[in-house]
Amino acid sequence: MILVTGGTGLVGAHLLYKLVNNGEKVRAIYRNEKKLKNVKNVFSCYTKAFQPAFDKIEWVKADIVDIPSLSIAFKNIEYVYHCAAFVSFEPDKYQHLRKTNIEGTANIVNLCCAFNITKLCYVSSIATLGSPINNEPITEDTVWNPEEDNSVYGITKYGAEMEVWRATQEGLNAVIVNPGLILGGGIWKYGSGSLFKKAKKGLNYYTSGTVGLVAVDDVVTIMIKLMKSNIKNERFILVAENWTYKQFLQALTTSVNANPPKKLAKAFLLKFAWKLDWLKTKLTGKRRTLTKHIAKSLSTKKHYDNSKVKNALDFSFKPIDKCIKDVGAIFLKQD
Ligand SMILES: NC(=O)c1ccc[n+]([C@@H]2O[C@H](COP(=O)([O-])OP(=O)(O)OC[C@H]3O[C@@H](n4cnc5c(N)ncnc54)[C@H](OP(=O)(O)O)[C@@H]3O)[C@@H](O)[C@H]2O)c1
Repeated sequence: MILVTGGTGLVGAHLLYKLVNNGEKVRAIYRNEKKLKNVKNVFSCYTKAFQPAFDKIEWVKADIVDIPSLSIAFKNIEYVYHCAAFVSFEPDKYQHLRKTNIEGTANIVNLCCAFNITKLCYVSSIATLGSPINNEPITEDTVWNPEEDNSVYGITKYGAEMEVWRATQEGLNAVIVNPGLILGGGIWKYGSGSLFKKAKKGLNYYTSGTVGLVAVDDVVTIMIKLMKSNIKNERFILVAENWTYKQFLQALTTSVNANPPKKLAKAFLLKFAWKLDWLKTKLTGKRRTLTKHIAKSLSTKKHYDNSKVKNALDFSFKPIDKCIKDVGAIFLKQD
């Protein structure tokens, strides 16, 4: 039997759909029954008649930072997909990020060892990769630099990877995937889905940086292929294509029949915008939407090399322009 964490999130829910459709026996953890609606929304991207697939999942209430509830979820499990994480770039969420991402992953890998799990797949991020020298493409060997001004999210995802590598030294078989920005339908309130919602209102500005993009379908297909392969104790960048933000935001707005951005947001404007965002949070208590690190990444040019996973699995990524069109069409139907 397979255990999935983060099944109520974007990656986990798409993964659950694929696993159930492959005829696998699947257990997934959840924290709040209301979040199961996310899973149904994601399943409805594939078929209107999603209930039979949803009913095949065994749901266990557990939190990755609560070992007793998590231990119950591990009974009779052979394979674990660990997709749960707290995704935030807000500096004042650092302790919560550490607890969920580092301590939560430590609990998962410790239980994998205790329950003799055959193999673990951990969803990390390109945020754990370092910056290359001389603008070379970033590969799986581009190592983390603790001296850099890293984001709180990146620090804790890196810490989580360290927990996985530590467990591999203790005998666990594991694979790690490092996706770029994942595009997929079903969840529109936050994450990449919320970008379609924002794009629908039309955008004025684009930024000068680049973004590594990948379809959620490719992410979960690769995760399953890696788990079924003999590959172990390796990590893989999952970026289908590297796009400029100008290209990306134009495609995004076009996909939802909105006006594409025409003006470049220069560095000083972005700096002003993230400072204003900080002030707004202080005055209103609302969550940050544009932090210093997000602003920096919006104007940074990076190129991610995806050849390792393509060669290892003989895999071809879906074209990103088609993916954006498809997700935009689902958004227009579901919103
Ligand atoms: N989306 C992207 O573009 C992207 C890119 C690169 C890497 N990633 C990584 O991919 C993974 C999945 O991301 P996603 O986009 O699917 O995130 P998401 O939609 O925000 O989902 C996060 C999932 O983690 C669960 N979770 C959070 N804290 C938990 C806890 N303490 N105990 C149990 N479950 C907990 C959430 O459960 P609730 O529903 O109960 O909150 C939810 O199911 C994450 O590891 C993320 O870092 C994502």
